[in-house]
Amino acid sequence: MPQDFEQLDPVLRRHQFRADALLEVLAAAQRSYGYLSAPLLRHVATSLRLPLSRVQGTASFYHLFRFTPPPRHQCLVCTGTACHVQGAGGLLQELKQHLNCPELDIGEVRCVGTCSGAPLVLVDGEIWNHQRAPALIEALQELLQ
Ligand code: FES
Repeated sequence: MPQDFEQLDPVLRRHQFRADALLEVLAAAQRSYGYLSAPLLRHVATSLRLPLSRVQGTASFYHLFRFTPPPRHQCLVCTGTACHVQGAGGLLQELKQHLNCPELDIGEVRCVGTCSGAPLVLVDGEIWNHQRAPALIEALQELLQ
């Protein structure tokens, strides 16, 4: 069943379906749908009356566009000085080693300003203080179920 991608309609109308608005339309498409799926790229190509190969080529040229669904969850390990001293490096390594899952984005963030909670992580934007690898890995595994 074809998707309608109606959230993109106002953007297409605002740009009067002009081909030179391709980048703005792609950015809006990704904002609305999370990533540029093959059907969404086809919709953009048809709407702007552009060859699909041009739309795909333009989208793949820019690193800001993604072609797979974004991870459902994000865990950022604070690697600021206080967290580093409290073992953030090892924590990050353990997470990467034990939670290699496309639905979890594991990354780093510099000091978030609440160093008394070191080592800490940000899970979907929420601060989790005083983390240790085994308990954190278990909590994240539960979150991913
Ligand atoms: S160093 Fe981690 S919160 Fe400040």
